[in-house]
Amino acid sequence: MTNAIMDAIKQRRSIRKFEDKPIDKETLNQIINAGKYAPSAKNDQPWRFIVITNRNKIKELSKNVQNEIKKILKKRFILQITYKELRKKKTLMFLYGAAMAPKDIIFFDAPALIFIVTKKKQFYDESCACCAQNMMLAAHSLDIGSCWIGFASFLSLNKQIIRDLGVPEGYHISAALIFGYGKNESKQIPLRKPMADVINRIE
Ligand SMILES: Cc1cc2nc3c(=O)[nH]c(=O)nc-3n(C[C@H](O)[C@H](O)[C@H](O)COP(=O)(O)O)c2cc1C
Repeated sequence: MTNAIMDAIKQRRSIRKFEDKPIDKETLNQIINAGKYAPSAKNDQPWRFIVITNRNKIKELSKNVQNEIKKILKKRFILQITYKELRKKKTLMFLYGAAMAPKDIIFFDAPALIFIVTKKKQFYDESCACCAQNMMLAAHSLDIGSCWIGFASFLSLNKQIIRDLGVPEGYHISAALIFGYGKNESKQIPLRKPMADVINRIE
């Protein structure tokens, strides 16, 4: 079966290389508006959006993420007691690579970064994830590439950075999305698991 929505869902890819071209405010508003139409528990619409199009600020935030990771790596012997993941060599190598990278491998020099912030309440983060997916699909429909950046969650470790971003009191970053006009990148579809591996049927 195929239709515009099915096609968009299947063709959207995470994009990490961007043209040096800004996205205008109107277009970003369209993307955010698509997010606002996402389902949300009790229709609470628990999201707020922090829209950053200042390239220097985005670069600075990438450095901030790297610095937060460096701090974790420094304290790893203490943190390993609580966070078992930090005992794994593979995790440490991954974090080390991210922290030391000379290029912007956090926000990929994207021209726009949007934080979806919400309060800590039941189903608020789930609602924000629906909102984020709507925004990425809307962007795709406008020929704009996007990627969810989980690495941005390291910013939450630094209260001053969160305050400086204007995240309202009692809110946290639920999703961080980058947007930009994609550079020609081979859009190979990262493999999806076979249906048989992901379905349990009760018939
Ligand atoms: C919650 C979440 C966090 C992610 N974090 C990152 C990230 O920090 N950096 C990155 O390059 N991609 C990140 N991604 C993108 C995934 O790597 C990507 O969605 C996955 O490889 C599948 O590729 P596709 O989106 O092109 O289908 C994240 C995706 C999700 C949903």
